[in-house]
Amino acid sequence: MNDLSPAPELANETARRRTFAIIAHPDAGKTTLTEKLLLYAGMLRTAGMVKNRKTGKLATSDWMSMEQERGISITASAMQFEYKGHIINVLDTPGHQDFSEDTYRTLTAADSAIMVLDASKGVETQTRKLFAACKLRGVPVLTFINKCDLPGRDPLELLTEVEEVLGIQASAMNWPVGMGRDFVGVVDRVSGDLLAFRKTAAGGAQRASMERIPLGSEHAAEVIGPELAVKMRGELEMLAIAGNPYSHEAFRAGKITPVFFGSALTNFGIEPFYDAFIDMAPPPSPRMATKLDGTPILIDPVTSPFSAYAFKIQANMDPKHRDSLVFVRICSGRFERDIVVKHYHRGAFVREMRLSRPQTLVARDRTTLDVAYPGDVVGLVNAGFAIGDTILAQSGPAKDGFEHAPLPQFPPECFARVMPADLTKRKSFDKGIAQLSAEGAVQVLRSWENPMGDPFVAAVGRLQFEVLRYRLKDEYNVETEVADLPYQCSSWLVGDVSTFKPTHGSYLAKDLRGKPVVLFPSEWDKRYCAQQNPDHQFVEIL
Ligand code: G4P
Repeated sequence: MNDLSPAPELANETARRRTFAIIAHPDAGKTTLTEKLLLYAGMLRTAGMVKNRKTGKLATSDWMSMEQERGISITASAMQFEYKGHIINVLDTPGHQDFSEDTYRTLTAADSAIMVLDASKGVETQTRKLFAACKLRGVPVLTFINKCDLPGRDPLELLTEVEEVLGIQASAMNWPVGMGRDFVGVVDRVSGDLLAFRKTAAGGAQRASMERIPLGSEHAAEVIGPELAVKMRGELEMLAIAGNPYSHEAFRAGKITPVFFGSALTNFGIEPFYDAFIDMAPPPSPRMATKLDGTPILIDPVTSPFSAYAFKIQANMDPKHRDSLVFVRICSGRFERDIVVKHYHRGAFVREMRLSRPQTLVARDRTTLDVAYPGDVVGLVNAGFAIGDTILAQSGPAKDGFEHAPLPQFPPECFARVMPADLTKRKSFDKGIAQLSAEGAVQVLRSWENPMGDPFVAAVGRLQFEVLRYRLKDEYNVETEVADLPYQCSSWLVGDVSTFKPTHGSYLAKDLRGKPVVLFPSEWDKRYCAQQNPDHQFVEIL
């Protein structure tokens, strides 16, 4: 019998989806790993197509640099493809100078994350920040320790660093035998086999050739050699005694990270990691939401009606269209073109609307989309949503609707005073700043003492200011001047503001919601201020 009823289809489609983001410090290998995930999914004939660094030519899926050339960063969207029966949604989390609130917000749309570390560097700053955002929501994180084909740090030391710096237990799923030129392969700790690494003539452009050899066999002994064998045995014994055993429950709860060693450039370890990933990483799961009267409600991806929330807005992507695209992540139900939804903004019903121009975004080509499922990301053109808004296809009165959890605010690290170059443009300038901050392009802060004074803008990454200037000119016809302010980090202040003792160089401001936020010239000043105010809490993410 041909069962065409929507419920089983929705359950199957949801179960086979893996929506995740890759978090990494610049240069750890995020682009290379993404490319290899595409290669192994059959999306690329040979690797090197995503970004051809040698020729500097843009490949089809690299639309990012193009936007940079036009002076507007933006970026993050999703790539979708199929791997071994699973639908993979990779959310792009821009790094480098593009690092912005979008990078953080995108993580809220992910059901899991892959953390890529460079084996010679370990945990670096940007990884730490992104990891903190995952930890806040209990997002399960898998760790891929990359570049094992180059001389790296001691693997045991790397595991300890993950645990100590990030505050999560690490469980090695495989173990490298040798590193750099001596890199032989990894021991799969589940099967106990050696996955021997073989360089192919095609380098990393084709799938890696990998041989699975039982560890106790003569062949394995030959491949490993006597010297490495001693070291390996010692390390494996140590892991067996002192290492953390893998627990699926603890991983799903974000309490333990399974760790894999490999090399994205040479493809070594990619396939076993990929297979483990689709096996371990969760499909879209229930999420907590809030009804309009404030009561919490659990939204199930399969049994709840269609719902999604906006996590990113990309304006003026295409100069020919002059439009904005809002990216929504589907949390529950089946999405169809022309679906009629209710739109909610900050606890209030806004309007009912038909979604007639849904888009998926692969490279710069927009493809009109007919149906999508929980975990998928849909682009909606000129939809008039703000970041964090919920859309919901629920019959019944609007007051019975719900909203997905509001997006957290992330601590800005760049601060500037922005003024219109021509003072007669003040009105358009104020309007632009108000709208762009409502959209989440920048945060607007005011002095706590003198809230009527000039506002200043704050962002996670400096490029957000460039985007702001560009958009103020392009959309509001206002040229601006930006003067950097000497602060490098900030925290929200929790406690009685009247008893807060400001330290030298710190500055007390108010965010748009009226919450107190303290700005500091350096991390050192931040720590010192916290010491001087032991009765207050200094919160990084609100
Ligand atoms: P990112 O997106 O995280 O910033 O890193 P990306 O993948 O661009 O990788 C950064 C550099 O590290 C690249 O070299 C890349 O080839 C190299 N790389 C990535 N993974 C591995 C690996 O497993 N082993 C080795 N040996 N190198 C790796 P590049 O010199 O910047 O570019 P290219 O000239 O190689 O293209």
